[in-house]
Amino acid sequence: MKIDLSFTPVSKNPVDLLAVVLDDKRTLHDVDDAALRAHVERAAAAFRDKSLKREYYATLPEGGVAKSVVVYWSPQLPAWNLHENLKTFTARAMRLARDYRLPKVGLAVNTKDAASLVGEAVEGAVIGTHVFDKYRQEKDDFFPKHASLTILVHPDHKADAESRKTRYAWVADNVNRARDLIDEPANVATPEFVAARAAELAREVDLELEVLDVAALRAQGLHGIAQVGAGSVNTGRMVTLRCVPKRPSKETVVLVGKGITFDSGGISLKPPDKMWEMKGDMAGAAAVLYAMRALGKLRPDVKVVGILCCAENMPDAHAQRPGDIYLGKNGKSVMVDNTDAEGRLALMDGFYRTGEEGATHMVDIATLTGAMVRALGPSVAGIMGSDRELVRRVIHSGERHGEAIWELPLVEEYKESLKTPFADLNNISAGGLAGAITAGLFLREFLPSGVAWAHLDIAGAGGFRDKEWKYFDAGSSGFGVKTLVDLCERFREPVP
Ligand code: BES
Ligand code: ZN
Ligand code: ZN
Repeated sequence: MKIDLSFTPVSKNPVDLLAVVLDDKRTLHDVDDAALRAHVERAAAAFRDKSLKREYYATLPEGGVAKSVVVYWSPQLPAWNLHENLKTFTARAMRLARDYRLPKVGLAVNTKDAASLVGEAVEGAVIGTHVFDKYRQEKDDFFPKHASLTILVHPDHKADAESRKTRYAWVADNVNRARDLIDEPANVATPEFVAARAAELAREVDLELEVLDVAALRAQGLHGIAQVGAGSVNTGRMVTLRCVPKRPSKETVVLVGKGITFDSGGISLKPPDKMWEMKGDMAGAAAVLYAMRALGKLRPDVKVVGILCCAENMPDAHAQRPGDIYLGKNGKSVMVDNTDAEGRLALMDGFYRTGEEGATHMVDIATLTGAMVRALGPSVAGIMGSDRELVRRVIHSGERHGEAIWELPLVEEYKESLKTPFADLNNISAGGLAGAITAGLFLREFLPSGVAWAHLDIAGAGGFRDKEWKYFDAGSSGFGVKTLVDLCERFREPVP
């Protein structure tokens, strides 16, 4: 879909549908056409006296500036802020345009006060018009082939608006690509497929790339990915991508993603209900992969390394069993009590590798525990960590882009529950309480010394929605791409 900016008044921009967003604190629009303004005023009055709820829609007589107008009211969505609501309303306007076949859409965010919101409007349009329909015969080509959006901006903010547009469109495109990879079924998106994708985009945006297969991993003493994937014909891979800044950077941020391309549970098989959703158990790796693609162009001034721990967790004669014991490369032995707690095993390799990459900071992102889904639900991700500043940075990066993150404590005394007589650590906790926290405590045992660490559990927030939500269509959300990109872009800024 084509998105452009216009710095001329509404009356100079003929469109099929003009969208206006109202707020009770800021005025975002400056409509210089009397007929249109009358509609906007009528809409505002109706929203204020609560006679109107969802949207105001009107068609206008032939020959006017716009064929139709739609007006939204931000306080109608009190759960989010104006930034998120503008994205949602932009997405809604585009869908309305699709349903009424109004290809040329205009969005008025053309007061001085609204200029900083251009990026949000662009993001809402890019994410809001993306659908995963590649396997359907019945497709609508309205968005890719016919629709266009003109965002009207105050002329004083030309340069700023252009740069926001470019930045947000690029990051949002990477969110969509992450979503596509998550939605892609596991018979297609195997660890080998993910590695091939990584190779493609490493060439495209000039990142260093390294791919290790299970033989190479085992030869280095890394057994986590290999063990988790032992029961699958689609063998595991560890993918490393590096974005090296021009000027040497004293900090290295390593992003590690859980990339289980399908999590059947293994020998500790999951129940069949919604098991298909486990094709998305690589959402952490997808977020890291497409954050790296975004960063490849944005070129932050800190060195960033992305590590994807990819394997398919299947039951088979070669699969690992409950009771199996193996040695992590940091010397700690692990007993696999439950083969469904596989994410932490695959991540062990990524944690070790993080140390070898010379990390000063590390963020891992994983659809790690069902306990996190129960604790925070689908709209909020959980975070834990060893470093206050890094945790704060990640939470703030999320806040800036509408990705909600809440901190959970790494409760020291719960470490007891990971004990077993047979090895240094059990891969699940006795009693099963606080599963998200004990998973975090397990991972911490493999943290290379001296590395500031934050752990994002996106099992809920990175999962599938069965209905559209905010500006997202049903399906995955690509949670984490925006947060990780923002974190790296702003790494040199003081901690908020
Ligand atoms: N991939 C799952 C976690 C998950 C569950 C993600 C639901 C998204 C939605 C993970 O590998 C898993 O199976 N965890 C187990 C751990 C348990 C065996 C200790 C869980 O949370 O039930
Ligand atoms: Zn599992
Ligand atoms: Zn899993």
